[in-house]
Amino acid sequence: MPGNRAVAYKGPGEVEVLDTPYPEFELRDGPGVNPANVGRKVPHGAILRTVATNICGSDQHMVRGRTTAPAGLVLGHEITGEVVEVGPGVEFIKVGDIVSVPFNIACGRCKNCKEGKTGICLNVNPERPGSAYGYVDMGGWIGGQAEYVLVPYADWNLLKFPDRDQALEKILDLTMLSDIFPTGFHGAVTAGVGPGSTVYIAGAGPVGIAAAVGAQLLGAACVIVGDLNAERLAQATSIGCETVDVSKGDPRDQIAEILGTPEVDAGVDAVGFEARGHGADASQEAPATVLNSLMDVTAAGGALGIPGLYVTGDPGGVDEAAKTGSLSLRLGLGWAKSLSLTTGQCPVMKYNHRLMQAILNDKVQIGKAVNATPISLEDAPRGYAEFDGGAAKKYVLNPNGYL
Ligand SMILES: NC(=O)c1ccc[n+]([C@@H]2O[C@H](COP(=O)([O-])OP(=O)(O)OC[C@H]3O[C@@H](n4cnc5c(N)ncnc54)[C@H](O)[C@@H]3O)[C@@H](O)[C@H]2O)c1
Ligand SMILES: [Zn+2]
Ligand SMILES: [Zn+2]
Repeated sequence: MPGNRAVAYKGPGEVEVLDTPYPEFELRDGPGVNPANVGRKVPHGAILRTVATNICGSDQHMVRGRTTAPAGLVLGHEITGEVVEVGPGVEFIKVGDIVSVPFNIACGRCKNCKEGKTGICLNVNPERPGSAYGYVDMGGWIGGQAEYVLVPYADWNLLKFPDRDQALEKILDLTMLSDIFPTGFHGAVTAGVGPGSTVYIAGAGPVGIAAAVGAQLLGAACVIVGDLNAERLAQATSIGCETVDVSKGDPRDQIAEILGTPEVDAGVDAVGFEARGHGADASQEAPATVLNSLMDVTAAGGALGIPGLYVTGDPGGVDEAAKTGSLSLRLGLGWAKSLSLTTGQCPVMKYNHRLMQAILNDKVQIGKAVNATPISLEDAPRGYAEFDGGAAKKYVLNPNGYL
């Protein structure tokens, strides 16, 4: 049996690459594993040799010490792999398949899964609805920033690529199907973007850029992306977006300069709870800034897509309320404007097949748009540090030399 190497959370600001056990068709105890999940049998699972596995802003919340993630938790929820073993309950997925793994873990059997709400599956996380690989409070499924990883309910969860050679050729695009491409697209869909829409996307990180690509695919007339990081704003310009530098002031005025009106049809939050303030306050964290700003700049009757993550516990919160995920929202304004809000994990499976077709038919180049940058597994600590420093790159770990 081969061994395994994986990236684990060590403590605030630190990750390390360690020897870890090769996966089995059973969930064993370990850092972050929910006691009620220990010993859980996974005959419906597949073991993958990782082809590509990306570092995400969601991982950074844990690595910055902004969650209750325990030391030793193996990270990684953005996984593409080659199937090397299947359990006895797997019927359709075969050894040798190259597959994309939706970051949500879903059973395919519960009420929510049956309605396509795979981000809030009821059967995989004893603590609350919804689960993901390598993530705090998500049941303890082991992360895939590793050489090998176990995927439960393989027939249901895995998206098989139609052709191995084609998949490996386009792997820097296809690797974005496990999370950020569907997530950004979902942000645009739930913000109501359609042909001719104007849209403001807060955040020019990988999710914000993916939302911009999604909005373009949906036919938006003008896509405006806001951030305070100049390199990331330049990345947004490179794919044809207008930009707003929130460190220079409120987005409202800059949107008015671009559109001739201070309001857009659709708003997307691709920032989350570690949001900075605007203008002179941009040097400080102000967690409700983006949500309040989107309610301000989105026209009455519009919608807010909120893929940006908000937590129920944040040891580093700016005040006592923020430490429990309570924010000072101007909901009265949103209510008065009849705005709709969509939060939560993106149900990846709802979109990944069609977005795969868009990639395979050269309709989009999501890898280029987010500046996909392959690095070795052993280099993960550097990737985490540079990404945390605001590099306009999406780091793709290459644990087995496929890239
Ligand atoms: N809902 C989901 O399913 C899902 C999936 C993936 C990621 N996420 C979340 O999406 C968010 C973005 O992910 P990412 O990987 O792009 O993260 P990231 O940290 O790389 O990007 C966030 C960007 O927001 C910018 N920012 C901060 N304050 C701002 C403000 N007031 N206005 C505009 N920009 C501001 C930062 O400078 C940064 O560039 C994170 O919260 C992540 O956890 C959610
Ligand atoms: Zn992610
Ligand atoms: Zn389910």
